[in-house]
This record gives sequence, C-alpha cells and structure tokens, in this order.
Amino acid sequence: MNFEFTEEQLMIQQAARDYAQRELITDVLERDRTGDFPHKHVKALSELGFLGMMVSPEWDGGGMDTVSYVLAMEELSKVDASVSVIMSVNNSLVCYGLEKYGNDFQREKYLKPLARGEKIGAFLLSEPEAGSDATSQRTMAVDMGDYYLVNGTKNWITNGNSASTYLLIVQTDPAKKHKGITALIVEKDSPGITLGPHEDKMGMRSSDTHSVMFNDVKVPKENRIGEEGFGFTFAMKTLEGGRIGIAAQALGLASGALERAIAYAKERKAFGTAIANHQAIAFKLADMAVKVENARNLCLKAAWLKDQGKPYGYASSMAKQYAADIAMEVTTEAVQIHGGYGYVKEYHVERLMREAKLTQIYEGTSEIQKIIISRELLK
Ligand code: CAA
Repeated sequence: MNFEFTEEQLMIQQAARDYAQRELITDVLERDRTGDFPHKHVKALSELGFLGMMVSPEWDGGGMDTVSYVLAMEELSKVDASVSVIMSVNNSLVCYGLEKYGNDFQREKYLKPLARGEKIGAFLLSEPEAGSDATSQRTMAVDMGDYYLVNGTKNWITNGNSASTYLLIVQTDPAKKHKGITALIVEKDSPGITLGPHEDKMGMRSSDTHSVMFNDVKVPKENRIGEEGFGFTFAMKTLEGGRIGIAAQALGLASGALERAIAYAKERKAFGTAIANHQAIAFKLADMAVKVENARNLCLKAAWLKDQGKPYGYASSMAKQYAADIAMEVTTEAVQIHGGYGYVKEYHVERLMREAKLTQIYEGTSEIQKIIISRELLK
C-alpha cells in the first residue's frame, strides 16, 4: 500500500491551494452576503483546467485522475464550497456522465466545451416529489417520432442558470417505473424552459440553485443517452462518482475549519495563556483532526478504487456519509473554539458550518448513503 502522492498530484493540490488562498478568499464573504455567481472564479478554474479535469485529453479534458480531483476539491472547499460545487457537478456528474455513457456525436458536441470549461453543465434529477425517492420521476418525455416532448419540473438544480447543458432524467414509460426512466441532453436555451428564482440558501450562497420548468420542450432523439429505460441506472452510476466530489467538498469544509481553529487557538489568550494550552481545547482539536484524517482516507480510497477501474459505489457512499457528517461536527466545534468570534461572519467558521449542512443533504442525504451501505452489507 502506497500513501505517497505522485509529483503531478502534488502539483495539482498546490495549484488549487494557491488559487483558493490567494483568490477565492478575497471575495468569499461578499459573495456569501450577496449570492452573486462567481463568474471570474469559474473562468479562472477553467483556465487551470479544473472544470473538466478528469475527462480524457481526446475530449479536450485534463486527463487527471480522481485522486487529483479529491485533492483539488479539498483545497478549494477549505475556502469556498460555493465555487467547488460548480466544479464538482461539472466534472463528476455532467462530464463523467457524457464521457462514460454518451456517444461520439454527443461527446463532440456537448462534452468538449464542458471539458474545456467554456460551458457549464447541470444534472437534473430531483423533483418536487422525487428527491431521495429518485425512482418516482414525474417529468414526462413523450416520443414524437424524431424528438421527445418534455413536460415537468426539476428542483434544487445546482448551476440551473449558469449551465448551458442539462443532463435531464425523465420518465418515458411510467408503467415500467424505474425501468421506464430515460436520460436526455437538453440545451438550456431550448424554447419552453423557464427557471424559478435563485434559491435564497442558508449556505453555498453564490452557487446558483433553481427549479427548472419544462413546458412542451422538444428534445431531439439524438440527444438521448443510451437506450430508453437506461436513465435510472445512468443516474445511479453517475452519482456514485458525484459522491466522491461532494465527500471531498465536505472534507475540505472540515479541514478548513480545523486549520482556522488551530490558528485561532494558538493566538487567542484566556486565563493567562493561549487557549490551545487548555486541554479542553487541545482535546477538541485532536478529535477534529482524527475525524478529518478518517474522512480524507475514505475519500482517497473511493477515488483510488475508481482510478483502478474497481467498483467504488459502496466506498463513495461511505466517504460521502462520513465526510458530510464529520464536516458538520468539525465545523460546529470550530465555531465553539472561536467562541463569540465564531458566531460572526468575519471569522469564516460560521459560514463553513452553514455550508457543511448541505453536504449532508445533496447528492443523496446521509440517510440515503446508509441505505446504500447497509444494502451492500446485507445482500
Ligand atoms: N448502480 C447501478 N444500478 C443501480 C444502482 C447503482 N449504484 N443503485 C440502484 N440501481 C438499480 C437497482 O439494481 C435496481 O435495478 P433492478 O430493478 O433492475 O434490480 C434499480 O436501480 C432500483 O434500485 P432500488 O430498488 O435500490 O431503488 P430504490 O427506490 O430503493 O432507491 C436509492 C435507491 C439508492 C435510494 C436511490 O433512489 C438514490 O440514490 N436516491 C438519492 C438520489 C440522489 O442522490 N439525489 C441527488 C440529486 S443530484 C444532486 O444533488 C446534484 C446537485 O445538484 C449537487
């Protein structure tokens, strides 16, 4: 077993760290306040090659491995998870879904601009009444010969407005339940698509989250991914990789909060000494560090399995559930260590805590991950 990173992996980690610590940090508090979309950072990440980092160079991607992706996601998320979620959805849901399951026509037309970071994608699975219960899709696509006519509503769509390319999960044959679910590529500016308002979220405030309504939207048949009925398997397989990205995001939130808590504990004095010298604080830091290290190992194990071409769904659910849950615990403890300062925005840790909460919810709640893990154990 080798715990060393390669030169290339370390370079990618350093590039992400540099960008986060020099650039993202400058306006993260302001964007948390305004909810403004981080256009300039998305452009910079595309120039760094991070938006399609795992796509093969044949399709204009960076050809990097999943371990590198975890390292980059952790560094960016330490500072700004609003930006890292844009990168995560583009990489591990949209680009991966197209590269793995699309055909060459679809890869040429849709994947290449996404992999170059010229365009952004979104993954439209959740509905008002189908979040965790993803088989209960109500958005309908009716076969009209050479196109589908799509009607329905999708909810909580990350990159809903900023994306140009949607991967849309629809029902094409309700009698077949999940075996009648199909995946389509839809251009966001297609006639009949309207967006709900930017959701006013508790955290991740500058990533754009919208509901998306489809009213008689025509989608050419050539935009179907795989066969009719492949959509649920497509969504589940794609989410297996997406969860590695969100696990790494949760890891970054936790490790970012830990770094801030350590720095503060060494600087802040109480009862005549730095608070780090009080065992009550030092032991908290030790507990936080063990959790962060466990989460990191789970994330890297899932990434490594994916890079080796081995099954990784069980490992990615474990990484996602554990990293998200400890992100909530570690960021909460970081606020506690900061005392009153932790409760104001300037010290960042309250924002990290708000953002950690979402990692327990999206791309499958912690409870959904436990369903997946326990089914695997018991089958
Ligand atoms: N790979 C391949 N096939 C899979 C699979 C996987 N990982 N998981 C399930 N399937 C197959 C099953 O084998 C089964 O097929 P058969 O009927 O042929 O045997 C079929 O799919 C149905 O599976 P289940 O019976 O297990 O279905 P279920 O209704 O019990 O639900 C679930 C399974 C795991 C709970 C699933 O619904 C799920 O993952 N829900 C959460 C959805 C989710 O993560 N949503 C996030 C939205 S995307 C997002 O958040 C992106 C963003 O913007 C940030």
